[in-house]
Amino acid sequence: MSPMREGVFHVQNLAGIINMRESVIEIAERIGFGIYDQHRIATAVSELAENAVKYAGAGTVEVHPNEQGIEIVCRDSGSGIIDNGDKSVSHGLGIGLLGVEHMMDELSIDTGKDGTCVRIRKWLR
Ligand SMILES: Nc1ncnc2c1ncn2[C@@H]1O[C@H](COP(=O)(O)OP(=O)(O)OP(=O)(O)O)[C@@H](O)[C@H]1O
Ligand SMILES: [Mg+2]
Repeated sequence: MSPMREGVFHVQNLAGIINMRESVIEIAERIGFGIYDQHRIATAVSELAENAVKYAGAGTVEVHPNEQGIEIVCRDSGSGIIDNGDKSVSHGLGIGLLGVEHMMDELSIDTGKDGTCVRIRKWLR
């Protein structure tokens, strides 16, 4: 991992994911999320980063804190998420992405042959 600027991380291996995760916890704490939400957010972003590394070789995580909460965007330049039509999991998401959906307030996925961009949000309450 190399932080390009505060809140932007390039991840390409497990060590990078672990470092990014620690920084996300610090940012989430700073803007007022409680300990459980800090870890939900960190776990969700780790899942996305793990997918980027596993399926695309690397990825970029951008963390955008604001007054309402946190938005995190994970991008990669892989070949995209292929809909294999597996209806055993809802929306065709795997266990990892389903967990992300449960841990966050919003999840949106933009994927295609040039890469994947996953945006997650959680609101302060
Ligand atoms: N960034 C990505 N690029 C390409 N394919 C992806 C990406 N993220 C997910 N996928 C595809 O979507 C499927 C579901 O992902 P998900 O994270 O939910 O499950 P998983 O990675 O297979 O399992 P787990 O996360 O539990 O280890 C993956 O198996 C993979 O085929
Ligand atoms: Mg996964």
